[in-house]
Amino acid sequence: VAPLKVGIAGLGTVGAEVVRLIETQARVLAGRSGRGIRVVAVTARSKAKKRGIDLRGVEWAKDPLALATHPEVDCFVELMGGAGDPALSAVEAALSTGKSVVTANKALLAKHGIKLARAAEKHGGALNFEAAVGAAIPVIKTLREGLAGTGINRVYGILNGTCNYILTRMEQEGLSFAECLTDAQRLGYAEADPSFDVDGHDTAQKLAILASLAFGTKVAQSAVYVEGISSIAPEDLRAAADLGYRVKLLGVAVRTAKGIEQRVHPTMVPKTSSIAQVMGVTNAVTIDGEGIPPITLVGPGAGGAATASAVVADIADVARGIRANPFGRPIAQLHDTKKAPMERH
Ligand code: NDP
Ligand code: HSE
Repeated sequence: VAPLKVGIAGLGTVGAEVVRLIETQARVLAGRSGRGIRVVAVTARSKAKKRGIDLRGVEWAKDPLALATHPEVDCFVELMGGAGDPALSAVEAALSTGKSVVTANKALLAKHGIKLARAAEKHGGALNFEAAVGAAIPVIKTLREGLAGTGINRVYGILNGTCNYILTRMEQEGLSFAECLTDAQRLGYAEADPSFDVDGHDTAQKLAILASLAFGTKVAQSAVYVEGISSIAPEDLRAAADLGYRVKLLGVAVRTAKGIEQRVHPTMVPKTSSIAQVMGVTNAVTIDGEGIPPITLVGPGAGGAATASAVVADIADVARGIRANPFGRPIAQLHDTKKAPMERH
């Protein structure tokens, strides 16, 4: 069987790890996919930048659009980030020619996910984005495939590694917000614009994706109420601790009598609760399904290696010929969503 030919746009924290993982896990991947996976072309902003990866024999495409439409590329992997161009036009171009797309870009999906899923549906390519939520945690597949036969009442959890890392170190070491954020950036956890993390928008984008899969809503970040952690100081965390609480940035999507409520805000959780034990860059997602006890998935929520693990799994699905409805149902069955009136829980 001919190998799957992959083109990767973006060779930063995640993209470079994806190139590395495809090389180091080549035998395992070929075994699991039934065929080889080969990176044939890449692109990034700077061709000259040292990235510590071996790109010998790999073509450098002149820009993301040229890569997305490259005749040799079967699977276009978008790891540049951003809800607009060049990511949007490149992903659209790849899908419109029937290629499969793998992306970790939650900002793009939360804004244009439905349009892109429609293009995938029309032209037959896959649109896979496991890495967009919870990095290495297979939460997209759990909701879409594992719980396909289960009604969902609530999905909630810690969805941003940077914020949980900052809150953890502020609480445990008394460091300032700014010092912790600088470290999160150095470790490759934060978004290119870290205000997306600390102001809650990244969590909102991920929550909108999870809500779409859980409730059949059209993914829309505008339907999410958002509050971030940037005004929290170490003293606030100490005060919460004195009362027996820990502060976590939670994303919560819940079915209410008035619609699907989606909200992101710092929350005081009892120190003895399981969610309070989730520390550092770790993420945790709890799914309340009808007729079964809650399921909680916990794992590394950011960073190059953790994210690359999910990206490569998505590429392996393309190699195997697996093609799911991106948001779990045909687009025509998804319903509109808007900010639901908030209820107390
Ligand atoms: P980086 O900023 O580290 O890397 C971005 C890459 O995209 C760089 O190689 C950059 O080129 C390239 N790039 C940016 N703009 C352009 C452009 N206009 N044309 C061509 N190339 C471009 O980001 P990450 O690797 O951290 O993130 C990538 C994606 O993965 C984002 O969507 C992010 O939200 C998502 N993600 C990230 C996670 C993480 O932990 N970092 C976790 C989960 C998802 P150059 O190197 O030359 O500057
Ligand atoms: N900036 C994101 C986070 C990356 O910290 O969670 C993972 O999506």
